Amino acid sequence: MTSVVVIDYGSQYTRLITRRLRELHVYSVIVPPSVTLERIRALDARAVVLSGGPGSVYATDAPGLPQGLLGSGLPVLAICYGMQLLALELGGEVRPSPTREYGKAVLSHYEGILFDGIEGEFVAWMSHGDSVERLPAGFATVASTADTPVAAMEDPRRRLHGLQFHPEVRHTPKGVALLERFLDEAGIARDWTSEHIIDQAVDDVRTRVGDERVLLGISGGVDSSSLGLLLHRAIGQRLVAVFVDTGLLRLGEAEEVERALRGLGLDLVVVDASERFLRALAGLIDPEAKRKAIGKAFIEVFAEQARVLQDVHGDIRFLAQGTLYPDVIESAGADGAATIKSHHNVGGLPDDLAFELIEPFRNLFKDEVREVAESLGMPKHLRERHPFPGPGLAIRCLGEVTHERLEVLRRGDDVFMSSLREFGLYEETWQALAVLTPLQSVGVMGDGRTYANTVALRAVTSVDGMTADWARLPHDFLATVSNRIVNTVPEVNRVVYDITSKPPGTIEWE
Ligand code: XMP
Repeated sequence: MTSVVVIDYGSQYTRLITRRLRELHVYSVIVPPSVTLERIRALDARAVVLSGGPGSVYATDAPGLPQGLLGSGLPVLAICYGMQLLALELGGEVRPSPTREYGKAVLSHYEGILFDGIEGEFVAWMSHGDSVERLPAGFATVASTADTPVAAMEDPRRRLHGLQFHPEVRHTPKGVALLERFLDEAGIARDWTSEHIIDQAVDDVRTRVGDERVLLGISGGVDSSSLGLLLHRAIGQRLVAVFVDTGLLRLGEAEEVERALRGLGLDLVVVDASERFLRALAGLIDPEAKRKAIGKAFIEVFAEQARVLQDVHGDIRFLAQGTLYPDVIESAGADGAATIKSHHNVGGLPDDLAFELIEPFRNLFKDEVREVAESLGMPKHLRERHPFPGPGLAIRCLGEVTHERLEVLRRGDDVFMSSLREFGLYEETWQALAVLTPLQSVGVMGDGRTYANTVALRAVTSVDGMTADWARLPHDFLATVSNRIVNTVPEVNRVVYDITSKPPGTIEWE
């Protein structure tokens, strides 16, 4: 697969560059500054993007360019820190600006290859302390702003382009056009589509798996369910899919997922392990203890099933996992270390169950998985569900998790979710949830005094869950949801709405 390699110098926007390129149907990967030219070639790169970064190119430990990159003939798009690095490396001069420029700027003029075809005012998002003061030989200035004489530079002969601003962010509205021009100039085909992703993943799985079998644990979430559909397409009945129902999903969700997957031809082994999970959670209050107990129970149930299924089907050689690209990115920030969320990992299986791992989604972002899911026929309301934590409702049931308390939470949550959908607000929020708090208080209903539970509602807007703001849901809508919950869930007499952003709050209450 041809690619565009993005070298990560630590900018908060690096992932966004890769996302934008992929939205333009070009496969793009992130690598740390320690990458070698050999590795870049092994990734079949047709162009390289240098990201921005928080530091100065003059800092003592400033990360540099891979040796040989600039002589390799590969087209380079250098952004912000990347552009300064490029300038410095080729004999130009970079200077600290008297003031740090941050925010929107308007280009006073623009020309050159990347701007070809762009018309009208060009708003550029700036965030830099240093600026290019003198161009390296062979370069021309192709854009300026009032504060930044060299806002863009290019050397068309060597196909080297520098942008002092960030074309990847929405605050640079015409930025995507620059990325498109860069791809066109580099002669890169835009064929990374979900159909293509699926075809390739199917081929890869078939080659790797041969005539063997693959075991997959399905949690009910989008990733593992989509993976089930993909593997089913690749190897049909040789996929052994186990749906472990923890009893911690939303109201009706387990049944709905099962029905949808069966409807698409996936033959699932469904294990109702809800009693088991409740037993494992008995008496636990601390969220980390809950997570651990759930992880352990999941492994146990899964291992038991794996043994039973080995007896039925004979040897199962592979284990599939829905690991996604954000879990494996090697970036400047992560210092080359792959971080894997433990709940995603069916690691920790006993030694007699030694599988070879296959991870067909390890190159994909979440929304690419959703597109794949669409192409594979998963219904919209399932594939476009909000993120949902692996430990499920257990971490939204504050205090002890019991069958009764889970039921109260599930019903309150269902009122909130179905109301969001009914009022067209579900898609406007990034994630929404109900929490059953451990708080009881006095209320009055009819002629009687009540003493019952408080449910907290939380809805947030976010891009990736790392930061979030509380969603400004209309007051009338919140009033409706509150009434509906109190009227239909007798164990609840009070509903509150969480108005904390993240940070300082987290999305989950736990
Ligand atoms: P927080 O609460 O940390 O959550 O702001 C950020 C995002 O991560 C999800 N989350 C989890 N997902 N296992 C998961 O699979 C977990 O233990 C877990 N804790 C939080 C949360 O729902 C939100 O989308």
